[in-house]
Amino acid sequence: MAPMTVRPAIAADRAWILPLSARLHAFGPPTFRPRDRMDAAVAAWIDEALQSRGENRIVLVAEDEERRPAGFIYVHEAADFFTGETHGHVSDVVVAAGAEGGGVGRTLMAAGEEWSRARGHRLLTLNVFEKNVRARTLYEKLGFESDTSKMVKVLRR
Ligand SMILES: CC(C)(COP(=O)(O)OP(=O)(O)OC[C@H]1O[C@@H](n2cnc3c(N)ncnc32)[C@H](O)[C@@H]1OP(=O)(O)O)[C@@H](O)C(=O)NCCC(=O)NCCS
Repeated sequence: MAPMTVRPAIAADRAWILPLSARLHAFGPPTFRPRDRMDAAVAAWIDEALQSRGENRIVLVAEDEERRPAGFIYVHEAADFFTGETHGHVSDVVVAAGAEGGGVGRTLMAAGEEWSRARGHRLLTLNVFEKNVRARTLYEKLGFESDTSKMVKVLRR
């Protein structure tokens, strides 16, 4: 794997992070979800994180030796519904298409995990679409296990 640097995002990263966020839906979401609405929603969500950086959230970027962007991860704190326990939550992790399969995803996940450990969290959570096999495989290899699973019935087409 080529050497990668991971650092907090700066304002200038917005220009490549937001377009790259559409890759979150590259796996092919359920047909009842309009893809353009999904892309717009995650872009707005990540944009808000980039613009209002706080103590309880961070966007980290990975770049290669020539400082070319390879991907990003957005991690924030969340509270468990049942216990109220504060934990880390990987909101989004995206690797550029040309950099996939080279360990960037693992590197970003390790950095997100480190951020969460440093804050004293016992748990790190994430949501992943059932059909996003590539991402699910990565998470399972990293030690994530299934928790709740959301099911949907389409009542009107
Ligand atoms: C999921 C994603 C982040 C993985 O990033 P990556 O840099 O390719 O991952 P890595 O190179 O670190 O590989 C980690 C694992 O991914 C899987 N993987 C790697 N290359 C793969 C390929 N060509 N096909 C299928 N799985 C592959 C393997 O399980 C690999 O484990 P290994 O290192 O033990 O072989 C990346 O594919 C991506 O950005 N996908 C689109 C956005 C997305 O779906 N994000 C997750 C949202 S929940």
